[in-house]
Amino acid sequence: MTIEWRPDDRQFHLRDDGISLVLRVYGDGTLGHLHLGAALPLGRSYRHLGPDPFDGFSNRVGEPVPLAYPTSGTGDYRVPGLVAVGADGATALALRYRDHRIVAGKPALDGLPSTYVEDPGEAETLEVTLADEPSGLEVDLRFTIFAGRPVIVRSARIRNTGTAPVRLMTAMSLTADLPDADWILVGLAGAWAREAHVVERRLVPGRQSASSTRGASGAQHNPFIALRREATDEIHGAALGFSLVYSGNFLAEVEVDPFDTTRVRLGIEPETFEWYLAPDAVFTTPEAVVAWSEDGLGGISDAFHGLYRDRLARGHWRDRPRPVVLNNWEATYFDFDADRLVEIARAARELGVELFVLDDGWFGRRDDDTTSLGDWFVDRRKLPGGLEDVASRVTALGLEFGIWIEPEMVSAESELFRAHPDWTIGIPGRPRTESRQQLVLDMGRPEVVDHLDGVLGDILASAPISYVKWDMNRSITEPYSLALPPERQGEFFHRYILGVYELYRRLTERFPRVLFESCASGGGRFDPGMLAFAPQAWTSDDTDAVERLAIQWGTSLVYPLSSISAHVSAVPNHQTGRITPLATRAAVAFFGVFGYELDPTALGEAERREVVEQIAFYRRHRDLFQRGRFLRLDSPFDGDRDRVGWMVASADRREAIVGAYRIRNRPSPGPERLRLRGLDPDATYRVAVWPDPGDPVARANEGERSGAELMAAGLSLAVDRVEAAALGDFRARLFVIEAS
Ligand code: DGJ
Repeated sequence: MTIEWRPDDRQFHLRDDGISLVLRVYGDGTLGHLHLGAALPLGRSYRHLGPDPFDGFSNRVGEPVPLAYPTSGTGDYRVPGLVAVGADGATALALRYRDHRIVAGKPALDGLPSTYVEDPGEAETLEVTLADEPSGLEVDLRFTIFAGRPVIVRSARIRNTGTAPVRLMTAMSLTADLPDADWILVGLAGAWAREAHVVERRLVPGRQSASSTRGASGAQHNPFIALRREATDEIHGAALGFSLVYSGNFLAEVEVDPFDTTRVRLGIEPETFEWYLAPDAVFTTPEAVVAWSEDGLGGISDAFHGLYRDRLARGHWRDRPRPVVLNNWEATYFDFDADRLVEIARAARELGVELFVLDDGWFGRRDDDTTSLGDWFVDRRKLPGGLEDVASRVTALGLEFGIWIEPEMVSAESELFRAHPDWTIGIPGRPRTESRQQLVLDMGRPEVVDHLDGVLGDILASAPISYVKWDMNRSITEPYSLALPPERQGEFFHRYILGVYELYRRLTERFPRVLFESCASGGGRFDPGMLAFAPQAWTSDDTDAVERLAIQWGTSLVYPLSSISAHVSAVPNHQTGRITPLATRAAVAFFGVFGYELDPTALGEAERREVVEQIAFYRRHRDLFQRGRFLRLDSPFDGDRDRVGWMVASADRREAIVGAYRIRNRPSPGPERLRLRGLDPDATYRVAVWPDPGDPVARANEGERSGAELMAAGLSLAVDRVEAAALGDFRARLFVIEAS
């Protein structure tokens, strides 16, 4: 890892073995963006990759000059990185190089979650200061390169050194100009219960984007996009991944200009953003991460997984095995009392579960979703001895105990709302749109954060609680804060998310041993910002095994297995009504942080035996399932969408587990094979099928195979047509592969 400064060329080159970023100060002081992607040799000038000389847009208006942080109104007509309105009302900024610094390590970002280093030798950071003389606006662009990771992390600090206030209208975290447009745009799109579906489209002239204006990153689009070449697949070919470490409104946009060059920008969504920057004030953007791969989309995922698992997640639980959970939500919904919970916990314990989670409904007078959010005191009708009693009874069984909270919300029917109606988001004189019968607290107000910190801190201190599921169940409407003057309402959304981060920071610092799991009606806020506080996230309310194949596949493009919380639930599935075998549900949920979301007291004897086996199997291989390298083999988004295959391999390649899934059974099947990856070609592996059904597929694969054969010829999934006739739909097989 090196950051090279060549004064004669006025060129910066950030390089590690897997990536290079080359920037150059043009003649007029503008910062150019000459190259982002494959590692290039150091010690060379790359000024010929941009216009040379370039002294400003005079007589070249509209030309595709590659820029590192473009502004509008001075000759560049593509989407800008920074737009600000100065005291004179003008928006045409001219950012010019002032100076730069290269420092070891990576400075933290004020008030925002960010990737980090544990040792300054892990990374190097370049900070380039650009200035717009007339307005006094200064920008520190920060670029960090890590040792051994093909990523660059970027952010901007914007400072008003002038004497008059400036209004920021757009403040992107990253812009990247690429010299051609032969890319396919990859994104993760969806809805509640259908998150993270992979969508792809070819770039065409104009703007294409993914975004959120809901107040949370959202289930509709993830704050991630990738660009891949047409020939790029999971293993081969070039790809760039862009991910934003942020949980609020975002924009990920790609523009192709008339000359077929591409500009990518990533940052806070500008239509719902405006920031008043007083003289001397500083605004810091969230950070954005770019990953480069020449080994397909799999290479992008490897880069994000390693960085987010080891240098974004933090604290006690970062590297520790996560417990097997039983969550009571789908077992009881709101209808429980202490004895019923203990009965469920006891049955769960007998199955091998390690952590019992009490979901929604334990506080206020919450018998359904119409009341009590905000009233974070125990409902003594259901739990007469309080949380302490139920938690001690559960922990006495040998289980850990966890609770659900939804701090950001308030019910109109609650003591909190009656006491502080002004803490709620809404516009005076206009009707307020409700959703799930709940209103949203104005997290941008320090007194709201202080209050929640107090009451939730008391709750967490009141009982042996070792896990918290932090939910967020509605989008924001009528965005408006009574605490902000009219001219500063544009700050509302960002202030909201800063308040959420502040509350997370306080609670995670005060309760460092508590495992936090983030949730927003499932995967509605599954983003890198949350992962900095909560190392795992509830991936989707949809626990149907078939739907989860798609959701977990898509989620894995960016997020590591250690963050993907995945449970087995009862059938018919509560979201789809589908009936899938218990073995299949587990074979999908194993690939992540595993648990159950069902009533264990309702299981039959055979099911109970099966679950005991499942949990024992997961615990045996937990490290692999939670921290192994995840490799996608056969996509639910390709072909007939009926075959899915994926695997997890240990870092030393001595161990792997493969999941092979057949959604709709296929009559008269052919000689299907599933080729593996990530193994040592020279090693000999013992292959076993789990659980062993003793059928022809098991027999055909069991035994010793070379890594080379498993990767070149693969495992056999072939059955003959007589065997196929008996299989039914929704079948899964797991292959356990261990080097001998
Ligand atoms: C939505 C979550 O995603 C569910 O798991 C559950 O916690 C409910 N909220 C409770 O209201």
